[in-house]
Amino acid sequence: MATKGKVLLTGASGLLGRQIYQCLKKSSWEVMGLAYSRGGEELVKADLLDFEKMREIMTDFKPAIVIHSAAERRPDKVQKDEDKARGLNVTATQELTRLCQELGSFLVYISTDYVFDGTSPPYRHDDAPNPLNTYGQLKLDGEKAVSSYIDSAIVRVPILYGPVETLDESAVTILFKALLSNDPAPMSDYEKRYPTHTRDIGVFLEAFSSKVLTDREICRGSWHFGGSEVLTKYDMVLKMAKVFKLSSKHLIPVREPSGGAPRPFNNEFDYSQTKKHFTMDITSFEDGIKTVLEPFLPPKE
Ligand SMILES: NC(=O)c1ccc[n+]([C@@H]2O[C@H](COP(=O)([O-])OP(=O)(O)OC[C@H]3O[C@@H](n4cnc5c(N)ncnc54)[C@H](OP(=O)(O)O)[C@@H]3O)[C@@H](O)[C@H]2O)c1
Repeated sequence: MATKGKVLLTGASGLLGRQIYQCLKKSSWEVMGLAYSRGGEELVKADLLDFEKMREIMTDFKPAIVIHSAAERRPDKVQKDEDKARGLNVTATQELTRLCQELGSFLVYISTDYVFDGTSPPYRHDDAPNPLNTYGQLKLDGEKAVSSYIDSAIVRVPILYGPVETLDESAVTILFKALLSNDPAPMSDYEKRYPTHTRDIGVFLEAFSSKVLTDREICRGSWHFGGSEVLTKYDMVLKMAKVFKLSSKHLIPVREPSGGAPRPFNNEFDYSQTKKHFTMDITSFEDGIKTVLEPFLPPKE
């Protein structure tokens, strides 16, 4: 069967990358998925900081499109080891941009709502970023590297959830641990978030990739994609409790800024640019989280 074209996907073993990989495969793209520690049978093992290996992979495969999803995305981890995170989030992105430019591949860079400071939402795709923490700053530095190449796009997404290998893998699913334990625990009821299912982003990126083939120029620049349901972490846990009929009485809502790396208060996106060119199909949080968490329910006695 004829394929739509070749896509090279970095971070294909990650929370988001796994869904992008599946969506592209299902839609007849020839996908090469790269992974680091979880590379193996289906995914090609490669360190993005091994520039020689990356050059070899790129020149052999000659992708029409590169989707760059790999990153260190945990703000507290980035804050603690900035140099290491800079290597993956910025230096590797600069090198990938150079390779895309040499080969004429269109580059799609996955970025984050954390490039904004959360003080004046909703944020349009062309609003000026002003990150509050090092993670946001490094992702913005990655955006700048990518933007030096005309045939590129930046796709910013908010907090993610989706099928996970462990509950710790997403900042959303990890909250389920506090709900399952009956111990009293504080839960942030302050910062406003827009949790988005990774599959919805995979479906969007498949459509986006198709558009790159037909309308390359339109695809250039920054895009916002994600959900519009506004929830604090406490609201998310209440919804988890509702769908599984669990008690949330032991959780204590905290109505002040979260600790650790500084977090934006409300980075709501304006999606008008995206909606002008694409259909946005968004899974409701209750439906999405129910399917994702079901495998982690304790066995019934
Ligand atoms: N998660 C969120 O809530 C969120 C929110 C907004 C934006 N984003 C953005 O979305 C993108 C995907 O995030 P995610 O949640 O899917 O991250 P993730 O689950 O932590 O996955 C990170 C990926 O990067 C790969 N990787 C790590 N070090 C590497 C290296 N040296 N060379 C090559 N690959 C390496 C990992 O490979 P192995 O696992 O095989 O080692 C993994 O596939 C990121 O750009 C992130 O900034 C995420």
